[in-house]
Amino acid sequence: MTHTPRSVVIQGTGSYTPGDIQTNDDLAKIVDTSDEWIFTRTGIRERRIAEESEQSSDMGATAAAQALERAGVEAADIDLVIVATITPDMPFPSTACLIQTKLGIPNAVCMDIEAACSGFIYILEVAAALLQSGRYRHALVVGTEKLSSILDWEDRTTCVLFGDGAGAAVLGVSETPNVGLLDFKLGADGAKGDVLYMPGGGCAVPATPDSLDRRMHFLKMRGREVFKMAVTVMEKAAKEILEQNGVNSDQLACVIPHQANLRIIELLAARLEIPMDRFYLNLEKYGNTSAASIPIALDEAIQAGRLKSGDLALMVAFGAGLTWGATLVRCP
Ligand code: ACO
Repeated sequence: MTHTPRSVVIQGTGSYTPGDIQTNDDLAKIVDTSDEWIFTRTGIRERRIAEESEQSSDMGATAAAQALERAGVEAADIDLVIVATITPDMPFPSTACLIQTKLGIPNAVCMDIEAACSGFIYILEVAAALLQSGRYRHALVVGTEKLSSILDWEDRTTCVLFGDGAGAAVLGVSETPNVGLLDFKLGADGAKGDVLYMPGGGCAVPATPDSLDRRMHFLKMRGREVFKMAVTVMEKAAKEILEQNGVNSDQLACVIPHQANLRIIELLAARLEIPMDRFYLNLEKYGNTSAASIPIALDEAIQAGRLKSGDLALMVAFGAGLTWGATLVRCP
């Protein structure tokens, strides 16, 4: 194991998904698709869609409030807030600052980090390193997305895949060695950025009537290429982190993968030789919620009793960038 000076542990988790359920049959009324096509290709049956007035910061704050309550940590004790999102309420201020205000956190360092669907693993590593520095006591990490706001509802190849929601965790330090977030393996390959991106809305293509007409402010994806890369990078990250920690895959009690596509997860499971029943899955209900996917699944897995004291768990993700990341966790 890679020994860290202080263990960083997950003290509490929370999650939130909007009440409005959009089924595959509902989508078939908007675009030329079917429940059969979507379910057999992706494993998704339905997803949650936020209200127009409900923003990423609102969903993130709700999930975070639950995480704080379960951790038994007061807002005043949080001194670091890091948010992973590709759908911030606005370019600035950061969604982390908005969540800080909504939760009444009096003073904290607040920042957003963007690594698309790998975002939550990225912010876990950043928060863990800052907590290990000894300069912070408690970090609030939040993955939150309102992907419905950047989907092209005329493009059946993308709009059927995604949903809205948020998940959060409170992290703190523990003197017990070898528990909590044991290790990370993150990576990126910017040269493959054009397989999944949103061209408009930044300084390269600011919003103009012309950019709106050309549908530049919507997510674009070459799905088949993303699919192949996803399996390759998640397998690599997972194998590397297991190997560098001397962990055999049958020692893993639970794997929490990014919930993008059931076929991607099944291929990953086969390549890692881990039975599917050890993977925590919820994509049938929520679709792909990008940076919120792992923390929602983590929270549900904990509430469902899938992670017990002493258990080893692996979280693994891939996303636009391309980015990827894996982390190995031992439940305290
Ligand atoms: N309903 C019906 N037909 C459809 C739909 C739809 N919703 N979407 C595409 N099709 C059609 C295509 O037009 C194509 O028709 P054609 O053969 O007549 O041209 C046919 O179905 C097959 O299309 P493919 O794209 O080859 O289908 P594939 O089996 O590859 O599945 C999918 C597509 C589901 C998108 C798959 O490639 C995938 O899951 N890729 C990974 C996507 C992903 O995980 N993205 C998230 C990344 S994470 C992040 O950072 C946000």
